Amino acid sequence: MPVPTLVLNFGHSVLNSLSDYTEAASEIYRHYRQGLNIVAVTSAQGDATDVLMAEARRIGPEGASESGGARNLPELLQLGERRSAALLALALERIGAPAFVRQARDLGLTASGDPMNAELTGLKTGQLLQDLKDHDIVVMPGYVAIGELDRAVLLGRGGADLTALYVADQLGAPALLLKDVEGVFDRDPKTAEPGGLRKYRRISYADLRRKAEPLVSARAVDYAEGVGQRFRIGTPGISDYTEVGDVTDAPEPARSRPKLKIAMMGLGTVGGGVFRRVEALDDRFEIVKVMVRSPGKYIDQGYTPDLLTTDAADLLAASPDIFIDVSGPVEPALSLTRDMLSAGVHVVSANKQAIATGGQALLDHAQESDGSLLFSSAAGGGMPVLEMCIRERGRIARVEALLNGTTNFMLGEMGKGLSYEDALQIAQDRGYAEADPTADVDGLDAAAKIRLVSLLGFGEEIGVDEIARDTLDGVAERKVPGKVLKRVSRVVGDAGNGVVADLRLKALSPNNFIAKADGEDAHAVFDFTDGDRYVIRGKGAGRWPTTESVMADLYDVSEAG
Ligand code: HSE
Repeated sequence: MPVPTLVLNFGHSVLNSLSDYTEAASEIYRHYRQGLNIVAVTSAQGDATDVLMAEARRIGPEGASESGGARNLPELLQLGERRSAALLALALERIGAPAFVRQARDLGLTASGDPMNAELTGLKTGQLLQDLKDHDIVVMPGYVAIGELDRAVLLGRGGADLTALYVADQLGAPALLLKDVEGVFDRDPKTAEPGGLRKYRRISYADLRRKAEPLVSARAVDYAEGVGQRFRIGTPGISDYTEVGDVTDAPEPARSRPKLKIAMMGLGTVGGGVFRRVEALDDRFEIVKVMVRSPGKYIDQGYTPDLLTTDAADLLAASPDIFIDVSGPVEPALSLTRDMLSAGVHVVSANKQAIATGGQALLDHAQESDGSLLFSSAAGGGMPVLEMCIRERGRIARVEALLNGTTNFMLGEMGKGLSYEDALQIAQDRGYAEADPTADVDGLDAAAKIRLVSLLGFGEEIGVDEIARDTLDGVAERKVPGKVLKRVSRVVGDAGNGVVADLRLKALSPNNFIAKADGEDAHAVFDFTDGDRYVIRGKGAGRWPTTESVMADLYDVSEAG
């Protein structure tokens, strides 16, 4: 079955600084983890096009302007969008999302007419569809296409909107244009007093032109209207959009978004990453308390002493809206998670051992309480394996996956001749391993994740002792010529009799999808009862991929109200 695709456009108003590319990557990941392929179309950063234009005026022929006068101008002005595409792809690479950049030329995006204001004429969708099949996420610069004599031409100011709508239309995919406003309002939300502001859930092309002309380029609106294409307008991190189409609804009072208070437990590899990301989002979140074992160490690193505590009770007493558990041990995490949920606090947890131990009873408790419990990052790092389990539960026959990045990395390095000790040391240095790495090599880390896959994907609780596990003992002697050694987690539904699960060292053919995951990369294969098969991938361990998974949950619970 083909995977549905979403086309996103990142407007220049949401790409104002380098850190905005991190936010843009986060937005892509949030949609991607819902099981969508993504085409991300970039605009230039902030005023980059103006800066390039000023350079052209100084160096180029007299009279060069955006309406013409210099035939090589498109070569320069396209660089803003191309730089944004490359930066966004790099930000995605940091979080382990399988993205890469394609240029208009690679994709056969053609245009004709005025080279500064050209009309799009075609897209060879074959290349793009193949790229999406192979890599899930493609980033492309907007505003530029290939014109006569195979030269770069531009689509006019705001042209990236048009690129996104055109590509979406050619793919038959929905489009979402991301701006610095949450959608279309009855007045400009940037200048109007917030009280009494109203937002359109749906607005017609004509009303959009009247109400918010500069928000979306006029040519893009004309194009969408001409082909009868509906599209959405929104802002990164908030899933509340305005849909543009044939009708306008009466606007509704805009939702106020008070700052949400966050309590955290843990400041290790992932916790430190989450802290930095949340701290930067200070218009939406405020970190009120962080529990750590040794505050002195963190005070030395520059954390504010008042923020830190060693007492779990202080976290509850801080009355947070959201509790983020990025600690490792089962306790006090599990008890605190229960207490937070009872108090109506949302919980985002990366603590696989606590959640696996809490099991179905914990999920039931979350169901009955006012708080929600999300824990996507507890298994698979940035690979959305638990999201897939939740989405497809009921039709999964079998899951095979690499669920421990440390082991996969070590097996790869040892295959190249490194000793066990050296391979483990590098995995620790890179932040893949648990605080106590014996959990990684003995398989207890993977076993907790297997339990979560079983719970969410099959609705079955299994004990750690029910999971047959191969450790890494004697692995150096297990080399099989022409094969790749992997330790594979497997959960198989057993028609009405629960599940069978194990963690086994397997010598796989190099062509096997799971064998192709190198280092901390994670791959998973889902076989469905109807014979269908889905594969997913991502970085299974490491600070930024796992942080991103926590952030995606954080955004989701922050919208839960
Ligand atoms: N230690 C874990 C691993 C971290 O190596 O996979 C991610 O859960």
